[in-house]
Amino acid sequence: MADSNTVTNLNTATTKQWLADEAATVQAGEQLAAQLSAGMTVFLEGTLGAGKTTITRGILQGFGHSGAVKSPTYTLVEPYENVSPTIYHFDLYRLGDPEELEYMGIRDYFSAQSLCIVEWAERGVGVLPEPDVIVSLSPKICDENQNEVPDQDNVQDAIVGRELCITTKVL
Ligand SMILES: Nc1ncnc2c1ncn2[C@@H]1O[C@H](COP(=O)(O)OP(=O)(O)O)[C@@H](O)[C@H]1O
Ligand SMILES: [Mg+2]
Repeated sequence: MADSNTVTNLNTATTKQWLADEAATVQAGEQLAAQLSAGMTVFLEGTLGAGKTTITRGILQGFGHSGAVKSPTYTLVEPYENVSPTIYHFDLYRLGDPEELEYMGIRDYFSAQSLCIVEWAERGVGVLPEPDVIVSLSPKICDENQNEVPDQDNVQDAIVGRELCITTKVL
């Protein structure tokens, strides 16, 4: 794994890390779990296939979950009540209108007793609470030294890794 670096702003700190494969994404989620607790909200940013559900699996494993984790694209939310705190994993990709979140009683999910992880949070803007942590995943094609390959249009299939950016609030 590459060296990670930290950039501190006025009230946020950002760490960057290179994730060479799926296992690295899961491991990054497990490590992130150690910094998460009840009452927190995590937004996961990145395109389709960026690794949002994969890092969620790592976070859940960090809390002791060992079963499957799939993106709740159609049901919008998947509860994990086998872990403590209860974790709600949202995927709002198919959300038509942020108002639908009001109908599903969104406020009951974002409580002091639960940890909420949200994919496609931008679809719920105005209704979702502010995140405590923003995890951003960017697929990149890199050479073996983790330098981005410039002409990515000419590279067939394989995206060979993800740049992970974690932004947390600093009190
Ligand atoms: N660091 C990585 N390098 C390469 N592939 C990865 C990495 N992390 C995850 N993947 C793969 O990316 C694919 C899409 O991941 P997924 O978590 O479903 O994305 P999303 O939820 O953002 O749509 C999966 O096949 C997963 O194995
Ligand atoms: Mg997903």
